[in-house]
Amino acid sequence: MKFTSSLLAAAASVATVAAKKVFIDNDGLNGLQLLIPLYGGYEIVGLSMSFGSSSSADSLGTAYDVLTTYNMTSCIPLYLGAQQPLIQTNDTFHLHNTLFGAPVWQGAFTPGYVDSYDINNITYNDTPGALALIDAVKKYKDTDPVMIWAAGMMTTVAQAISIYPKLVEEAAGLYIMGGYVDTQMAQATGNAFQVDVNTDINLIQDPEAAQIVLTAGWKELYIGGNVTNYLVPSQELYDRIIEKAGGLDVLNNNTYFSELQSIVVSGNYTENAADTENILPFWDEVVSAFMAFPDIITSSTPVLASVDTSFYSPFYGQLRIWGADFAPTAGYKTGNATIVNSIKDAVFYDFILSVLFEDWRQFCDTGKYSCLKGKLNGY
Ligand SMILES: *[C@@H]1O[C@H](CO)[C@@H](O)[C@H](O)[C@H]1NC(C)=O
Ligand SMILES: *[C@@H]1O[C@H](CO)[C@@H](O)[C@H](O)[C@H]1NC(C)=O
Ligand SMILES: *[C@@H]1O[C@H](CO)[C@@H](O)[C@H](O)[C@H]1NC(C)=O
Ligand SMILES: *[C@@H]1O[C@H](CO)[C@@H](O)[C@H](O)[C@H]1NC(C)=O
Ligand SMILES: *[C@@H]1O[C@H](CO)[C@@H](O)[C@H](O)[C@H]1NC(C)=O
Ligand SMILES: *[C@@H]1O[C@H](CO)[C@@H](O)[C@H](O)[C@H]1NC(C)=O
Ligand SMILES: *[C@@H]1O[C@H](CO)[C@@H](O)[C@H](O)[C@H]1NC(C)=O
Repeated sequence: MKFTSSLLAAAASVATVAAKKVFIDNDGLNGLQLLIPLYGGYEIVGLSMSFGSSSSADSLGTAYDVLTTYNMTSCIPLYLGAQQPLIQTNDTFHLHNTLFGAPVWQGAFTPGYVDSYDINNITYNDTPGALALIDAVKKYKDTDPVMIWAAGMMTTVAQAISIYPKLVEEAAGLYIMGGYVDTQMAQATGNAFQVDVNTDINLIQDPEAAQIVLTAGWKELYIGGNVTNYLVPSQELYDRIIEKAGGLDVLNNNTYFSELQSIVVSGNYTENAADTENILPFWDEVVSAFMAFPDIITSSTPVLASVDTSFYSPFYGQLRIWGADFAPTAGYKTGNATIVNSIKDAVFYDFILSVLFEDWRQFCDTGKYSCLKGKLNGY
């Protein structure tokens, strides 16, 4: 680690917050998920990539690409997190789907899934993700307690709690992406895409880990469920990005703009929508944004939460919530959580326009981003 936290604090030219610390676990990564917390003055003390929506190799590979694009491999340690759920297997997952109905998106359990990356080609730290998480939380517990941001399955965090239960009290709290509520009607009436985006793969792929983690008793637990589905790509957003870049060519010609390129793709929403992979909501990015900039939250609801862990239930792996007066008081364990309902949408879209147009390539040396204009071919 070359930079110090005081350098980092100085870096955040938009933020007045001190260098808070976050450890991110995910099952894949894009630039915004990483850069928005940095932009908000966070220091990223570790990044672990786990099995889930992608295979372990692909999760690591996408994260490695992001770190390489922004020249951050030397100051953000990359780890391999959980490589399989706690109890759920490929067989139990597909058996459950046969009994109770299958989600459209089946992540790395998708029949015929083929890795895009070769794990041997990726440079990452030997320490398993759960141990790296424990080390990071312990290291800063008395100075800057580490926030945990778990964007995929909860397995890596559940492993860490099992090894080191004090993790829960020593961490600042937990943010998760997952935990949709009230989506049955959308699932029953929607097309495949609408059913897909209203189904909660992160919790159903490892229900037991999700129940352990969500009910562990964190100082604070923020759930980004439905709200993340409300922020989506649009022609208007593409037009703003392309205009700021000075043309689609500029995005296509510079690998530094690969993250923006993957947002605008052809630059035409109608054409992009032919492949729904191009128009997915900004799921994890939204949670990164309201974690780093809590002021953008406009509505949230305190609940008691748990995850259904009954295999012979159609709701196996789904979030269940209660008001404080009506939650189970014995038996099924629950945890306090805050469900974020809405954020300032315009501010979120502005982040995309600002964060991805900065030059982050000296960040490991200086702890700062700088103005990109004039440094790239055509920009
Ligand atoms: C998981 O199960 C599906 C359906 O039975 C099968 O097509 C697929 O090959 C299995 N995947 C792995 C990694 O075993
Ligand atoms: C892994 O690296 C080798 C050697 O550079 C390369 O030939 C191969 O295409 C890479 N594999 C993947 C899946 O990226
Ligand atoms: C969650 O999403 C569904 C489907 O879009 C919607 O019908 C429902 O009102 C949403 N609930 C909340 C609390 O946002
Ligand atoms: C996008 O593409 C569609 C179909 O090719 C075309 O009809 C439409 O005019 C294009 N929209 C824009 C904004 O270029
Ligand atoms: C939820 O928070 C309330 C208020 O702090 C506390 O009394 C209660 O014990 C908590 N419930 C659980 C399940 O942690
Ligand atoms: C990338 O970061 C290294 C330090 O980690 C620095 O020496 C180098 O100048 C940076 N590269 C660019 C293109 O800024
Ligand atoms: C993009 O690259 C092409 C081919 O290399 C070149 O002809 C064109 O001028 C470039 N456009 C910009 C805006 O740099």
